[in-house]
Amino acid sequence: KDFPLKRRNRLPFSAVPVTRHDGISVPPGYTATTFIPWGTPISGRYPAYLEDASNSAEDQAHQTGMHHDGMHFFPINAKYGGHQSDHGLLVVNHEYIDAPLLHPNGPTVVDGKRTVVDEVRKEINAHGVSVVEIRRGVRGDWSVLPSARNRRITGATPMRIEGPAKGHALLRTRYSPSGTSTRGTLNNCANGFTPWGTYLTCEENWAGYFASQDSELPRELSRYGVRDTSRYAWETIAGDEFQRFDATRRGTDTQSDYRNEPNTFGWIVEIDPFDPDAMPVKRTALGRFAHEGLVFAPVKPGRPLVCYSGDDSQNEYIYKYVSRDRYRPLRSDGRLLDAGTLYVARFNADGSGDWLALDIDDPAFQQACAAAGVSFADQGEVLINTRLAADIAGATRMDRPEWGAVHPDNGDVYFTLTNNSARSEADAANPRAPNPYGHIIRWSEESRDYAGTRFRWNIYLMAGPQGDSRTPKGRTLDDSNILASPDGLWFDDEGRLWIQTDMSGSQLKSGPFGNNQMLVSDPRTGETKRFLVGPLGAEVTGITATPDFRTLFVNIQHPGEGSTPGNYSSSWPDGPGLRPRSATVIISRKDGKRLM
Ligand code: FEO
Ligand code: CA
Ligand code: CA
Ligand code: CA
Repeated sequence: KDFPLKRRNRLPFSAVPVTRHDGISVPPGYTATTFIPWGTPISGRYPAYLEDASNSAEDQAHQTGMHHDGMHFFPINAKYGGHQSDHGLLVVNHEYIDAPLLHPNGPTVVDGKRTVVDEVRKEINAHGVSVVEIRRGVRGDWSVLPSARNRRITGATPMRIEGPAKGHALLRTRYSPSGTSTRGTLNNCANGFTPWGTYLTCEENWAGYFASQDSELPRELSRYGVRDTSRYAWETIAGDEFQRFDATRRGTDTQSDYRNEPNTFGWIVEIDPFDPDAMPVKRTALGRFAHEGLVFAPVKPGRPLVCYSGDDSQNEYIYKYVSRDRYRPLRSDGRLLDAGTLYVARFNADGSGDWLALDIDDPAFQQACAAAGVSFADQGEVLINTRLAADIAGATRMDRPEWGAVHPDNGDVYFTLTNNSARSEADAANPRAPNPYGHIIRWSEESRDYAGTRFRWNIYLMAGPQGDSRTPKGRTLDDSNILASPDGLWFDDEGRLWIQTDMSGSQLKSGPFGNNQMLVSDPRTGETKRFLVGPLGAEVTGITATPDFRTLFVNIQHPGEGSTPGNYSSSWPDGPGLRPRSATVIISRKDGKRLM
């Protein structure tokens, strides 16, 4: 059976053409308005954004961060099951920074070392998550409310560690000798949200924030790509708050250096947006890798909670988590994410698939470990080394799993595989070698509660130019829908699939695809059309809507990527001569009705 769904009407908008216009293009009848760009004051004394980027680290801790990515709109009454659409909390990830644009004249670096404490603190504070209380006025315009709920969570915010790896010897640090807490969340890419009204932020390329000079790295660092230099060289400046990014062994134990600091990253972090005093929690049962996001199978009372997460790196895996305890409305909370089974996907050539348990008590996993000559002391160590555990289990290496989305009607799971220049051999689930354009894979669980270990999969769409692509109808893509490097993925309540792209390099600069874009695809008909094109140099990522579907929120990340102070390759959103800023875009219909 090939995912039967009842037919529906055609998508009610005209496709936006491919363009390199430096702005937001949407179909006739729709408007797009910039909202909460980097530097928007949201808390404390509400420090105004200074266009020359001279805001201090302290200011940045009260302003929205850089590089908006995954986000979610929580109706203000969501905790009580409400669906209010005019008033809510918008929670936004800030994935990383463009240091040249964060400071008036770029970062100060002397002989490869950072020398200005406030600059590095500002960089750490520009990471993390923003919680912003917002309200829609009668004319459909949104504003930020001054609110005690508004909050910045940064790369320095204290966090608890829960789940099987809590207190593990490999998580003991100078900051937390008991291995039960850490500071900050970093490289927060896509997201998730729970049935009990909390936000989940995912730590993707955290490995690049750490450095180690050790000639031999332990497996929990080497398998994740920690190197001798870090992305922003934070570890080169004095002080415990920066030295913690240097994982080099300098003494005999975990109290004499920061060897285990990187092990407290790579997790999914739960944030209660409604309680500004609640400490975020890193949920270790969900595994440690380059988490892109977390999406849930349809949630049913009395059934286990099931969710999916991709590891976005070349030839990495897709994972599934099944909670041990059952979901109980109004009673379940984050502890459901602390005890369960983590599985990794094997896509067989015949269209079947298997979820392989990464569980130290599972006989098949024990056998695989013995055959590989690898041992883990306990389940905490399995989870800290999730990638290695998945290697041993025999999972299918994928073309960079980015976002997932679950069809609201039938529970089919869709995942973007963005591209993979490093693929040398094609397989059924990753049929292009190398894969410059990416594709979207989907599967259907065989078990009715989604918790079983067997699934059926197929490929929904091969991205690419006319002639080297395939639509769900089996045709080649055309001018109205060519795309490459699919990344963000989301289903609206009526089962339309929204696809966002993250092309870069020559594909973005000179390819046939124009700027990064967002398309809508209807799995019932296979119809796929371009809905939005973003500004120059930007990625389109992050998407959520109000329950009434009159407002759609979309994020624009790194417009004018590669710009230096005074030399901007995009002037979005503020205008000519002004530094480009990541921002949310609010999309609505001019007549104020539902988007579609
Ligand atoms: Fe941050 Fe895989 O995108
Ligand atoms: Ca990104
Ligand atoms: Ca992404
Ligand atoms: Ca990407």
